[in-house]
This record gives sequence, C-alpha cells and structure tokens, in this order.
Amino acid sequence: MTSVQVAETVKELQLYLEKARISNLTIGFVPTMGFLHEGHASLINTSTKQRDVTVVSIYVNPLQFDPDEDFDKYPKDISSDLDLCNEHGVDIVFMPSEEEMKPFLSEESLKLRGIVKIFEGESRPVHFQGVATVVKALFEIVGSSYAFFGEKDFQQLVLVKQLVDDYLLPVQVIGCPIIRENDGLAKSSRNVYLDSAEREQSAVIYQSLKAGAEAISKGETSIKNIEQLIKKTVETSPLANIDYVAVVDPLTFEIPNSIKNEVRLLVACNFGQARLIDNILAQREVVSS
Ligand code: PAF
Repeated sequence: MTSVQVAETVKELQLYLEKARISNLTIGFVPTMGFLHEGHASLINTSTKQRDVTVVSIYVNPLQFDPDEDFDKYPKDISSDLDLCNEHGVDIVFMPSEEEMKPFLSEESLKLRGIVKIFEGESRPVHFQGVATVVKALFEIVGSSYAFFGEKDFQQLVLVKQLVDDYLLPVQVIGCPIIRENDGLAKSSRNVYLDSAEREQSAVIYQSLKAGAEAISKGETSIKNIEQLIKKTVETSPLANIDYVAVVDPLTFEIPNSIKNEVRLLVACNFGQARLIDNILAQREVVSS
C-alpha cells in the first residue's frame, strides 16, 4: 500500500496544491488536531467523495487551550492517524510544527462576532479567538477549497462560517453530521479521558438531547421547559456535572423567546476529567392542513 504524502512545511503543501489547481482539480480540506476517529473519517469520506484532492491538517493548536486545559496531555497517535488517512484515501497530510505555523498566525486578535463570548466562549475564554486565528491561517495556507467541519462542535462551525464571511476567505465551509457510538455518545478525541463508569453514564447526554427534541416535535414551545427537561435527564447520571444547557437559533446562536420552528439544543457537561459537548437539531412537527 502506498503511504499518504506528508507535508511538514507550508511550501511543500502549497507546491502540491498548486500542481492540483493547474490540473483543474478541486480541493477538500479537513482541519484536525489529530487522534483521528470515525468522526474525522466521515469528514474525510465526504471530502473524497465531493472533491478531487483531500488535504488533512494535523496540528494541536496551543492558542485554543485555556491555561488550565489539556494542551500538554492532548492525546496523540500519529502513526494511527496516518494509517486512517491512508485507508480513507487522503492525498496529503499537512503536519506543521509550531515553528512552521508561527509566521502565519496573526499577532493581533481577530475581530469576531458575539458568538465567541457565549456558551463555549464563556466557559473557555481564549478558545474561540485561538480557533479563529489558526483556522484563518490554515485557510490562507490551503487557499481556495471546500472545508469540512463536524457538527459536534456546532458553535465552532457557526463561528468558522462567520469568519469566512467577515474576512472574505476563499473557502466554502460544509457542516457534516455527528458520528456517534452505539449508545449515542458523540465521537470525540477527548472520550479517552472517560473511565468505564463515566463512559457508561455519558450516554445520558444524547438521551437528554433526544428527550428535548422529542418534546419539541410534540409541540413544546417553552425554552425553559426544554432546558429543564434536558437538565433533569442529564442529572439522572450521578457522575455528570452540567456546565450549560441551551436552546439556540441554529444560524444566529441567539436564544429565541419561544420555539417556533428549528432550534439547536446544546449541552456541555463534565464527566471526571472529560469535558463533553453535544447538540441536536430540533423541529416542531409540521402539521399539513
Ligand atoms: O475542531 C478541531 O479539531 C479544531 O478546533 C480545529 C478546527 C482543527 C482548529 O484547531
């Protein structure tokens, strides 16, 4: 089996992409922090299906971790990551060092919209400024392309779309569905932090979201009632420690006065050392007249 090409420098990657563009090939881009799992594989599969060339970046971005977070122990397994990229038909993996990325990371903080201050942004104050800085740099390095992001980090997905609009970046951002374990837990690199009891109980997050979505589909319109239902369901797990539960407009992230049509239900929750987030789309049932 031929091994996937690896570019450690911007120059190597850009040379490769330039050749692809001369041949009129379209470029799909999957930005990651490595420790790849089936969620990433599904983003890669969508890219390889839709685009001619797929680039995966693996870069654990120090700027998006708050000082008390897990940057130093963020899980890594480069050889298994390269195997996964190989198996899923990735054309080139961009794996820059911090030194290589430095000149591309703007020193000035980016002007971002209010979304960076709420929910994840409130609990993790530097997080979104760090995500936006690195994503903007990666988009500028990769250039004109289609970028695939998982809906698990739904607030990140909306932020990245806003970033592309506000900074006129030549990238089309595509959100892809959440990939789940059999019991519903959303796949995440951070799930390795869960011990077996936490892992078992963490399925309650998806159960709570499903309960909320079901109540909405049956006609519940009160934000407060939905939040309470989700909280109560999560609290059936003694190991769960809720950070926030929210009901938001999926496009603006604003909290509506009441549920009229589509909303996103969000949960962030700690299980031991693992901070887990998840979300679901919820809709009022359309009654045909
Ligand atoms: O979602 C992630 O893995 C990261 O936030 C990203 C988009 C690769 C930026 O570091």
